[in-house]
Amino acid sequence: MADDNKKQKPLATGDRTIPPAGAKMIAIYIMGREYMVPETLTIMKAIEYAGYQYVRGCGCRGGICGACGTFYRFTGDYKLRSGLACQTVAEPGMIIMQLPFFPANRPDYKLENMQGTPHEELRKLYPEVFKCVGCGTCSRTCPMDIDVMDYIALMKRGDLKGAAIKSFDCVMCGLCASRCPAQISQFTAAMFVRRVYGKHILPKAEHLKKRVEEIKSGKYEKLLKELEGMKQEDVKKLYVEREREPDLAEPGKWMPKDTSKL
Ligand code: SF4
Ligand code: SF4
Ligand code: FES
Repeated sequence: MADDNKKQKPLATGDRTIPPAGAKMIAIYIMGREYMVPETLTIMKAIEYAGYQYVRGCGCRGGICGACGTFYRFTGDYKLRSGLACQTVAEPGMIIMQLPFFPANRPDYKLENMQGTPHEELRKLYPEVFKCVGCGTCSRTCPMDIDVMDYIALMKRGDLKGAAIKSFDCVMCGLCASRCPAQISQFTAAMFVRRVYGKHILPKAEHLKKRVEEIKSGKYEKLLKELEGMKQEDVKKLYVEREREPDLAEPGKWMPKDTSKL
């Protein structure tokens, strides 16, 4: 185990992370090399503090895009762990390796041209899904705590609605696929299932159809022209002062007071 009180190495600071006064320094290992970084940083910020610059493997920094999948172990511990670098706090003795990309099975398909039932198409495009051995490694690896094994089981059973709902929070990091002994690309198969669910299983959204027709009929042209003719400052003011839906409003229930522009 590295000595936490070791003198800090003179290193560049990637995103100019400024540690709080008196922050304790901890030793972490990035691609096998030891660095002293302030505690409390996320893995992403710790890597930048150590002088690395992200050109891949970083996107939203908010746990949404899935670009920063990361594996790590602690010194002296056999267990391989995983997380998102932008969401996981660096801890002493972490040995870190990011996995910004993992080659997945991404077959070419067009939802419009599907011949068989969605389940038959799934079998054709992703036959490996049906070879799942039920080991559960994918569920233990997922940084979003999704029960990946379960959505794969739902796919096998033909419950594509269940699989689509269960996999909804997937951020496409690919960590599950990187550890699957059956070589399944769970996340791309789940994306296919969610697309099929949206296109062929869910009933058509009437309000969406109506809105598309309104747009096509030119209902908003005048409004758009007015906006285009406004000064930038006025557009900003309008944006800031607009009536906003409250965060916890019941879905489908909220309406602005001024409905003339809907
Ligand atoms: S299901 Fe797989 S790809 Fe999706 S978030 Fe979990 S580990 Fe990442
Ligand atoms: S890691 Fe692969 S084989 Fe194991 S449960 Fe998940 S999908 Fe099935
Ligand atoms: S950078 Fe987008 S999830 Fe981490």
